[in-house]
This record gives sequence, structure tokens and C-alpha cells, in this order.
Amino acid sequence: MRVNLSIRAAIQSDLESVIALDHVTTREAKPGYWRGIFAHYVTGSRKDRFFLVAETGDAVIGFVVGEIRAWEFGSPPCGWVFALTVSPHAREMSMATRLFEEISGQMKRVGVSIVRTMVSLEDAETMSFFRGMGMRSGRYIELKSQI
Ligand SMILES: CC(C)(COP(=O)(O)OP(=O)(O)OC[C@H]1O[C@@H](n2cnc3c(N)ncnc32)[C@H](O)[C@@H]1OP(=O)(O)O)[C@@H](O)C(=O)NCCC(=O)NCCS
Repeated sequence: MRVNLSIRAAIQSDLESVIALDHVTTREAKPGYWRGIFAHYVTGSRKDRFFLVAETGDAVIGFVVGEIRAWEFGSPPCGWVFALTVSPHAREMSMATRLFEEISGQMKRVGVSIVRTMVSLEDAETMSFFRGMGMRSGRYIELKSQI
């Protein structure tokens, strides 16, 4: 089902809505983290950073954040999507699909042809979403150790 919504670049006054959406989704409030992300991705006007919100009426019901990064881990420039959240009340109505299509389109217009993300192996719904968007395992694997 497709619902009326608009997708636009986030503005500073979206901060509280984003903090609240993230809190309800992850069950952890991170206001300091989001203030820092807004300073980097909303206040600045760089063409390689993207913070989009989805709005129905005047309520923000979802957001996606990403950027173009180059040469880390030897990777040529590509898009990274590192946050995507839709309100529990607005799910399974193609909101995330439209946010992801929009950020991918904007990244493509800046000149990259690959978009990457990371998903917890335990997060079946997000994994299902990204697979539905055509994403598949890439050529990198995460390594970690206790330090
Ligand atoms: C994953 C998420 C973004 C999907 O948002 P959404 O707006 O409901 O997704 P869409 O309606 O666009 O769904 C598109 C596809 O994703 C898959 N999908 C979505 N929700 C799903 C679920 N609960 N279970 C399985 N597959 C699902 C389906 O393949 C669906 O296609 P279909 O409608 O043809 O079945 C949303 O569930 C969410 O915000 N989850 C929490 C994510 C999170 O933890 N974010 C914080 C860290 S970044």
C-alpha cells in the first residue's frame, strides 16, 4: 500500500522527532549522538552527506542517513546507508522503500553506483527489507575482537 508522504532533507527542527523515533525503535535514547549527527549531516551543506526525513501531514514518520565515502578498506567511492528507521505505526506501507529509493537516487546523481550498509544478523526484518531492495552480501566481512 502506498500512502501520501513527502520526503525532504532534514532540517534542524526535526531533531526532536528523530531522537524520539530512534528511541522508540531501539529502546535507547541517544540525544547527544543525534545532535552530533545533525551537526555533521544537517547543518553542513556537503553534497556527499544525506539526511532525509519522511513526513505524513506534519509528522516525521521515518528517516534515512548516509554518505559517500571513499577508499576506506580499499573501497572506491560508494554510498553508505548507516541509519534507516520508520515509526512502528507506519510500517509495511512502503515508507522505508521510498526513503531508500530516494537516498539511493541522490547518491547515484552524485556519481556512485554502489550502495552499502550493515545489518545485525539478528535483525531479520531489516535484513528482509534490504534484501527486498536487491542488496546482497558484498566482498567485505566484519572482523572484531575484545580489546
Ligand atoms: C526495516 C524497516 C525500516 C522497514 O520499514 P517499512 O516502511 O515497514 O518497510 P516497507 O514497507 O518499505 O517494506 C518493504 C519490504 O521490506 C520487507 N519487510 C518490511 N518489514 C518487514 C517485516 N516486519 N518482516 C519481514 N520483511 C519485512 C518486505 O520484503 C517488504 O516488501 P513487501 O511489502 O512487498 O512485503 C522498519 O521495520 C524499521 O524501521 N525497523 C527498525 C530498524 C532499526 O532498528 N533501525 C535502527 C538502526 S538503523
